[in-house]
Amino acid sequence: MSTDTRAAAPEVRISGIDPHWWRQAAVYQIYPRSFADADGNGIGDLQGIITRVPYLAQLGIDAVWLSPFYPSALADGGYDVDDYRDVDPKIGTLEEFDQMVAALHAEGIRVVVDIVPNHSSDRHEWFRQALAAEPSSPERERYIFRDGTGPEGAEPPTDWTSIFGGPAWTRVPDGQWYLHLFAPEQPDFNWANPEVRADFLKTLRFWSDRGVDGFRIDVAHALTKDLTDPLPSEAELDAIPRDAGQHPIWDRDEVHEIYAEWRRVFDSYDPPRTAVAEAWVERHRRPRYASAEGLGQAFEFDLLTQEFDAAAFKDVVVDSLSLAAESGSSSTWVLSNHDVVRHATRYGLPPLPETVGTTEQDRKQGAAWVLAGAPEDQLDREKGQRRARAATLFELALPGSAYLYQGEELGLHEVGDIPDEARQDPTFFRSPGVDKGRDGCRVPLPWSSTGPTFGFGSSSAHLPQPQWFADYAVEAQEGVDGSTLEMYRAALHLRRELQTDETLEWIETGRDDVLAFRRPGGWVTVTNFGEDDAALPSGEVLLASSPLVGGRLPGATTVWLRESQS
Ligand code: GLC
Repeated sequence: MSTDTRAAAPEVRISGIDPHWWRQAAVYQIYPRSFADADGNGIGDLQGIITRVPYLAQLGIDAVWLSPFYPSALADGGYDVDDYRDVDPKIGTLEEFDQMVAALHAEGIRVVVDIVPNHSSDRHEWFRQALAAEPSSPERERYIFRDGTGPEGAEPPTDWTSIFGGPAWTRVPDGQWYLHLFAPEQPDFNWANPEVRADFLKTLRFWSDRGVDGFRIDVAHALTKDLTDPLPSEAELDAIPRDAGQHPIWDRDEVHEIYAEWRRVFDSYDPPRTAVAEAWVERHRRPRYASAEGLGQAFEFDLLTQEFDAAAFKDVVVDSLSLAAESGSSSTWVLSNHDVVRHATRYGLPPLPETVGTTEQDRKQGAAWVLAGAPEDQLDREKGQRRARAATLFELALPGSAYLYQGEELGLHEVGDIPDEARQDPTFFRSPGVDKGRDGCRVPLPWSSTGPTFGFGSSSAHLPQPQWFADYAVEAQEGVDGSTLEMYRAALHLRRELQTDETLEWIETGRDDVLAFRRPGGWVTVTNFGEDDAALPSGEVLLASSPLVGGRLPGATTVWLRESQS
C-alpha cells in the first residue's frame, strides 16, 4: 500500500468567508524557537517558518498555532511576554510576521497565535512602571501587590506555592510583594483593573487586523481572582472546591465576562476570529469556555493523560463528544504538546512503579521516566512509535479538531537525557529533584540527517539534539513508503476528503481491546489496542498505521477503510 498521496487531494485555499473552518481543523503547533532557524543564531525564527511553508502545505494541515514569538527573556519559553504587540528581535520583525501570514494564507493555512493573559513578564513596560511607582499607585494596580505579614512585612502575604514550585509571592525593594502563579518572572495581572482589560482588547485587535485567524488562550481559567482579605492559607485554598465557580483563583464564573467581551471583538471580523481555551478545569465546567458566547472551543486534554488502552480511549471520546454537544462547539483532540512528554515515548514505557513525588498523571505522561534519568532499557522505542502511529490515526478520524505538535509527524521521541546544565525550563530550576521540566519535547527539529544541527540552522541549536535525531529527520523520511511522515501526510490529505458531519457511530467488534467506529459517508476506523491480530470489516483499505498481515489487523495498529456500498 502506498502512503504517498501528495498529489491526491485538492488544495483548500482561504476563501475568507468560511466561518466554520476551525470545527474540524488539523492544527499544527509550532514552537517557534525550535522549528527552523534561518539566521543561524541557534533560535528558530519567522523566516525559518516562511522557508518551511511548502513543508507545512505538503503536510496537509489546516492551520498553524504559534507558541509565543513575542519579545521575552525566555524565563518560561516565551510564556513570559515583554510586549504583546511585537515580535522578539531574535525571532523576526512585524514585517516578517506579515510575510509569514501571507505565505501561509496563500497555501490555505490559517494562523492561530498564543495569547498569555494571566501574567506578563517582569520586563513588561507596565511591570517596570509598577516597580518604579509607590505602593497603591495606579501603576501597581495593574498587577497584584500586597504588603507582607510578620515583623516588617518580611513574610509573604500567604504561604501559597507557585505552579512551578517555590513561593507564589516575590518581594520588591520597597518591601511589598507581588503574586505570580508561575515563575517570579511572570507577575500576574490584576484583571479587576479596566486598563488591563482594555489593553488585551487592543492586543486581540492588533493581531486580528494583521490577518491572524484565531487565538490560543493560555491558562484561560486563572484570570479573575478574589483576593479580598483575609487571604486563605494554602491548605484553606486547597480545601475550597474548584467545581462551583467560586474558588478564589481558579475557574471563577466571572472570567466568562471577559471572554464575552472578547467574543464581541472576534465577531466584529469576517470571518469571526476563533479562540481555543487552555483551561484545566473540572469536566462539567469546560463547555462554558467552549460556548459560542465565549472563546468558542476548549482543549480536551483527557486523551493525552491515558495509557494506550481501548476502554480508556473510548471513555474519553464518548465523554468529550458529549461535552462538545453541550457547548455547541466541536471537540478537540491532543496527544502531544510543548508541555508533555511526547506520545511516542509515553506509549513505549512500561507502567512505572510508584515513585515518591510523582502523581498518577505524571507517571502516565512519562515525567517520572524523565526524572529517573530516562533509562534507555525502560523505553521500547519501536513499540512506542507503533502505538503512537495507531493512536494518531485514531485521533485524526474523530469528529472535531486535532491539535498536532511539531515533530510528532516524524514520530519523534522525547529527548530524555538533556544534561542539567543545558536545561531551560523553569520547572526544572524551581523544583529541584522533583521535575526535570519540559525541554525534552522542545528540542529543535531535525530536517536533515547530517550537519551540526540536522538542518535546523547553520551552526547551533539552543537545546542539544541527540545523534538518533538523524534517523527521524524529514530528509530520512520524505518519500519513504511507510515512514511516519508519509503516514501523516497521507492521513491529513485523506482526512480532508473524508471529513463529514461531526458524528460517529461505534461498531461492535466483539473484543475489548479493539475499537471501531463509522463516520457518515462510510469512513470506518478500526484500532487494535491489543497484541493479537483482529479481523477487519469489509471495505477498501485507505490507510494503515502499520502493514496489515494476511488481511488482518495486527496489534497496535489502526486502519481506515471505505465501507463497500451495498
Ligand atoms: C501554559 C503553557 C505553558 C506555560 C504556562 C504558563 O500552561 O502551555 O507552557 O508554562 O501556561 O504560561
